[in-house]
Amino acid sequence: MAQESADTHFGFREVPLGDKQAMVDDVFRSVAHRYDLMNDLMSAGVHRAWKAAMITALNPPRSETPFTLLDLAGGTGDIAFRAAEAAGTGFRAIVCDINAEMLHVGRERATARHLEDRVSFVDGNAERLSFADKTFDACTIAFGIRNVPRIHVALREIYRVLKPGGRFLCLEFSSVDMPGLDKLYELYSFNIIPELGRMVTGDAESYRYLVESIRKFPRPNAFADMMREAGFARAKWDVMSGGIVALHSGWRL
Ligand SMILES: C[S@@+](CC[C@H](N)C(=O)[O-])C[C@H]1O[C@@H](n2cnc3c(N)ncnc32)[C@H](O)[C@@H]1O
Repeated sequence: MAQESADTHFGFREVPLGDKQAMVDDVFRSVAHRYDLMNDLMSAGVHRAWKAAMITALNPPRSETPFTLLDLAGGTGDIAFRAAEAAGTGFRAIVCDINAEMLHVGRERATARHLEDRVSFVDGNAERLSFADKTFDACTIAFGIRNVPRIHVALREIYRVLKPGGRFLCLEFSSVDMPGLDKLYELYSFNIIPELGRMVTGDAESYRYLVESIRKFPRPNAFADMMREAGFARAKWDVMSGGIVALHSGWRL
């Protein structure tokens, strides 16, 4: 087995692999109470369209047919709620996230939406899932995988907990490939977003990390290769908004 590198990236900084998760946890602990508002402000609401595209691809049954979704790194529950609202009565979701503050906000939102019977929240690390093999019909992860220190380990775990025939969908920021838009996006990301973060959450550094971590995330073809290495079949992706985000898909067959 290849030796695992002892270092990784936290944004643009090289940090010991063992330190990254605690640093990521500090970021989301700091921004949890304003996380959803910031998503709307940063993306001018467009994150809603990206998430809607993920739910369209997931296509949960609109019937009584049992269907169990794992929404990994699900934070405040956005994806699970959208899936529940699109699905039939057989639908259940578990939002699994490592951050207690994000989960706390998620539970409050579930109650406000009367979804607490269909969406539950579990504290857990994507690298060591506490679920049995072949538990879920589908797994989603939105804007979460780039925060996980050992992505290949999390991908193997996702594969393990999916039922044969189960689908994995991953929404993540990608690389803008439209001339003109790339420069604008760069300027916006590195200048406006941290400042917006400072004004809304009092924490510019966390948003600087989030922007930098986007640049460090593998290109779609490289991520698709990682999915294949973890066992996924039919790994493919679609880009949206000129490459700002990519929706990856793979199956456990
Ligand atoms: C950018 S938020 C995404 C939240 C939600 N999926 C959404 O789209 O709004 C990233 C989430 O990943 C979670 N996370 C980071 N590392 C994790 C890990 N190792 N296991 C599980 N969740 C993790 C964070 O706590 C945070 O809630």
